[in-house]
Amino acid sequence: VSAAGPIRRLLSQVSEVPTQAEAQRGLREVLGDPTLELLWVGPGGVYVDTDGRSVALDDQPTGRAVTPITHEQRAVGALIHDPSLLDEPALDEVAAVIGLAIEKDQINAQLREQRDLLSAIGDGTPALLCLTFADGRILPDGTNRALRDLVGAAREELAGHLFWDMLVVETDRAEVERVIGSVAAGEPQPERVSRWRSTTGAISVAWTCAPLLEIESTPIFLISGVDVSDLERQAQELRDSRSRIVLAADNERRRLERNLHDGAQQRLVSLSLSLRRAEKNVVAAPDQAVEVLRAASEELVEAIADLRELARGLHPAILTDRGLRPALAALAERAPLPVTVEGDVPERLPAPVEAAAYFVAAEALTNAARHAHATRAVIEVELARGRLTIAVADDGVGGAAADKGTGLRGLSDRVEAIAGSLAVTSDGLGTRVTASMPAEARPAAAR
Ligand SMILES: Nc1ncnc2c1ncn2[C@@H]1O[C@H](COP(=O)(O)OP(=O)(O)OP(=O)(O)O)[C@@H](O)[C@H]1O
Ligand SMILES: [Mg+2]
Repeated sequence: VSAAGPIRRLLSQVSEVPTQAEAQRGLREVLGDPTLELLWVGPGGVYVDTDGRSVALDDQPTGRAVTPITHEQRAVGALIHDPSLLDEPALDEVAAVIGLAIEKDQINAQLREQRDLLSAIGDGTPALLCLTFADGRILPDGTNRALRDLVGAAREELAGHLFWDMLVVETDRAEVERVIGSVAAGEPQPERVSRWRSTTGAISVAWTCAPLLEIESTPIFLISGVDVSDLERQAQELRDSRSRIVLAADNERRRLERNLHDGAQQRLVSLSLSLRRAEKNVVAAPDQAVEVLRAASEELVEAIADLRELARGLHPAILTDRGLRPALAALAERAPLPVTVEGDVPERLPAPVEAAAYFVAAEALTNAARHAHATRAVIEVELARGRLTIAVADDGVGGAAADKGTGLRGLSDRVEAIAGSLAVTSDGLGTRVTASMPAEARPAAAR
């Protein structure tokens, strides 16, 4: 009786490769030997039984026979059985079939390992990855963890659906469908930015689509994207702050023009008229001329004072001439409330740093005087690890916010323009404006 037919059937019935235990059970049954043991060669070339224990082939008790199982001249397993089976004509064939099964199992295990490795790599990357067919449908295993987390969906919920329906916000769907269609038609497409869906709404993603490989002559495409929302936000902030700086400069020029027009210019015009009057009178009515000249001289003093005042508002001469420490001391002196300056400021710092620190102190003190009802304020300065930090704190009513006026907003633009940052904390205990910016002290001669 040949057992090979039933064995083959046994193996073909089990659609997957049988486990070692399943195969052993089947063999015991068909070969009629309940003591039969099927050993597989495990990793490292040792024979293992169905419980995973390693077995030494040449260490078998008498009364047991060993039939090696080979596949393409490689030992892949062994049968330990009753010696009477050695007469069974089908034993070799059985061994060959089992050898095939074991080989297939080993290949499957390797494939599983490779697949696990690939999907671990896919799941480990922060990039958004998706595999699709040419028509845009997502492969059963075609999404990585970052992508699933983005939309809060399980693998199965995405598989089989159109990529753009599942991942892209409605307004961008047609465009994304068109791009993927072009790539599928063999026209490479450059990277572009689209709005993708996310559990929190939508994000901007820079993405590409490219043919990856063919599985059984079906082309597969890889869509890979990176979240660029933060970058876009920063770029927008930069554009906003640039236009605010331009606007502030324009406003400042207009203010100067008005101040000059209303102040020094008026005085100089009337001075010129007075001088002409004096010129006419100087012979005929010298007394009157003297009177006019005296008034004109007073007017001139006023005009000079106006110009000086204007110049001080532009850029304090004391800052340029003597540096931050004396300039802060002068600010504290001039403030309508008691102000102390704490901390040590190095001799000289780069001019933009000195200017930024000075204007932070000036605006914060002006605010403290105008809005805070504070009894006192303190300026703290520190240069440490290449950064200058200046903080102005008052003990007033609080309530400062950068979006309520242009003063604080302008400070933060000014500080950010030199790669620094401005922070405002303000509550019932008072207000604290802190600016921190990169600064290398440098000798006065180098300026
Ligand atoms: N030290 C402070 N204490 C209490 N409130 C403050 C303080 N500093 C600012 N504020 C509040 O925050 C707002 C915004 O201040 P900000 O300096 O930006 O504008 P402003 O002083 O009103 O006008 P300006 O553009 O002339 O500076 C102020 O209007 C005020 O209500
Ligand atoms: Mg202000």
